[in-house]
Parts: sequence; structure tokens; C-alpha cells
Amino acid sequence: MIKSLNEVVNLLVSFATQKKHTMNNTTFTMIKPDATEKGHTGAILQKINEAGFRIVAMKMTHLSTAKASEFYEVHKERPFYGELVEFMSRGAITAAILEKENAVEEFRKLIGATNPAQADEGTIRKLFAASIGENAIHGSDSNENAKIEGDFFFSKLEQF
Ligand code: CMP
Repeated sequence: MIKSLNEVVNLLVSFATQKKHTMNNTTFTMIKPDATEKGHTGAILQKINEAGFRIVAMKMTHLSTAKASEFYEVHKERPFYGELVEFMSRGAITAAILEKENAVEEFRKLIGATNPAQADEGTIRKLFAASIGENAIHGSDSNENAKIEGDFFFSKLEQF
């Protein structure tokens, strides 16, 4: 038996948040500055659409050096960190949260290996990326990082 308004509110909140907590169905992506500069944004979005991902959130934006440094902080000890931050802040990107069953793994299959030279035929990186540094697109590597990265760019009100 429900006893108080507080209990009703708590029940509603737990119901509303349950879906997100039990779901492993979203990933986060960025179409990187190299792909934007070459005019590949539309073609890449079409591949994502055709692969059956639903757009939960999307925006075109430009990362400042500070924001790019923060986003890639996990890589700060890597020798390529400076180059990566400079590249990711050099022009516009398209950031998005995408939904599909088993989204992280499915999206990584769609984009192909980090190094386009090793990416399978038909993958986004094979089609649109030039090098390991300028590799056209990002895809989260785990459900945990998908949530962290999506929340870095989008407030709850911007996720549908
Ligand atoms: P991504 O997986 O989206 O996020 C980390 C990025 O670091 C990766 O894409 C590459 O763009 C970049 N990266 C990884 N390895 C190297 C490397 N050896 N040299 C330059 N950039 C790299």
C-alpha cells in the first residue's frame, strides 16, 4: 500500500530511470574535424541511419582546446595526446548519442578499426578516414564510457 506523496514520487522516479539503468543500448559518437572538413558528415550519418541506429541526441559543435583536453583526459599520458587535442579542436564536429541493441559493439563494427589501414571493407573508417590520428569518427569503447561521453555533451533535456 502506498502511504505518502513522497513514496509515489520515489516510485515514479525509479520507474522513469529504470529503463536507462538496465539498458546497454546506447553509444556515443563524434564525426571528427577531418570528416567535417571533407564534407563527409551527410554520408556518414546515412551509413549510421542505414545500420539501424536511432538518434537519441545530436549537435554540431566546435570543441575548445580546454574541452578537447578534458574529453581525452584518459589519454593524457599517451605520446599522441597533444596532437589529438589539437586535431579535435581544429574544426567542427558532430556529436551524437545513438541507440540500438548492443550499441557499443555494433557501432564499433560499423566504424571499423582505429587505424583505417586495418579497418574492414565497407566500414566508415575504411571509407572516410586517412590515418590513425585523423580517423573520421569516434565510437565509445564501453557502456560506462558511452554514458560518461554522452553526458559530457548533452544535458538530460537534450536526450530523447
Ligand atoms: P578514438 O578511439 O576515437 O579516441 C582516441 C583517439 O586517439 C583515437 O580515436 C585516435 O584518433 C587517436 N589515436 C590512437 N592511437 C593513436 C596514435 N598512435 N597516433 C595518433 N593518434 C592516435
